[in-house]
Amino acid sequence: MENLLTSLVNNNISYTKDGNVASYIPELSKTNPSDLGICVVNLDGKEYGAGDFEKNFSIQSISKVISLMLAILDNGQREVFSKVGMEPTGDSFNSIVSLEVKNPHKPFNPMINAGAIATTALIGGNTLEEKIERLLEFTRKITGNDNITYNKDVYLSEKQTGNRNRALAYFMKSNGLIDGDVEEILDLYFRQCSIEGNCRDIARIGAVVANDGIIPWSGERVISREVSRIVKTIMVTCGMYDASGEFAVHIGIPAKSGVGGGILASVPRRMGIGVYGPALDSKGNSIAGIQVLQELSKELDLSIF
Ligand code: DON
Repeated sequence: MENLLTSLVNNNISYTKDGNVASYIPELSKTNPSDLGICVVNLDGKEYGAGDFEKNFSIQSISKVISLMLAILDNGQREVFSKVGMEPTGDSFNSIVSLEVKNPHKPFNPMINAGAIATTALIGGNTLEEKIERLLEFTRKITGNDNITYNKDVYLSEKQTGNRNRALAYFMKSNGLIDGDVEEILDLYFRQCSIEGNCRDIARIGAVVANDGIIPWSGERVISREVSRIVKTIMVTCGMYDASGEFAVHIGIPAKSGVGGGILASVPRRMGIGVYGPALDSKGNSIAGIQVLQELSKELDLSIF
């Protein structure tokens, strides 16, 4: 497996030249565009990595998978999906248009920014500090990594420049779609997006979801089989934003990308996969990461379809 992963990285590293690192969050523009790494975590706990798989990066939108699981644990799926839908948008991840003209009642899904902000608003805790601590603790549990934390520079960078998300959040507040203090909800959202991890960490999350909610290395159940099924389904339909359909056709694995360059993938009952390559395509997905996943999916016949 390690040889296969090494050759996947070598075969696809040249694609990193065709993309650009995210710069709308200024701190993210400091990442090295030619990084590329992959880690596979099997459900028997075996882990394999190649390339820059141990390098920490900003998980960004991959955190939306984590906050969705925690919001459902805290509130139940009925409550969460009364505030956010389950439908793909076909629009970019930070689009405001569907909120206004298509569905004035709730954001389309928990993977676009508007839906993720509405989901994050449901995370339990009495104070902002308690909420972020709960989210970090949950992330530490499903990665098996006690050192998981968020990067303050990335968080502050997005807090200073995240006016688009601010617009989405205030718009939702004006329509009664989110309760509570908007700035506090945004603060929690910016912190969750700036959580750092490496390919192994996100591959392990993928393995927990692939294993129907049971942590492969401890046997502990963290989410129900039903929630793990919901999460994988939403990843298939919405996880790669307006490239989700193409990704489903060519790769066929539930996955979630982030503008930090990571992709978390979860092959039901087989494995979790973490990929990192911060050079992005025009839709905000890792350009070389997608190629690596495509080759891996073909090689190991991973498509669920
Ligand atoms: O809210 C944002 O714009 C970022 N914190 C996260 C966006 C993101 O990762 C989209 N992914 N492809």
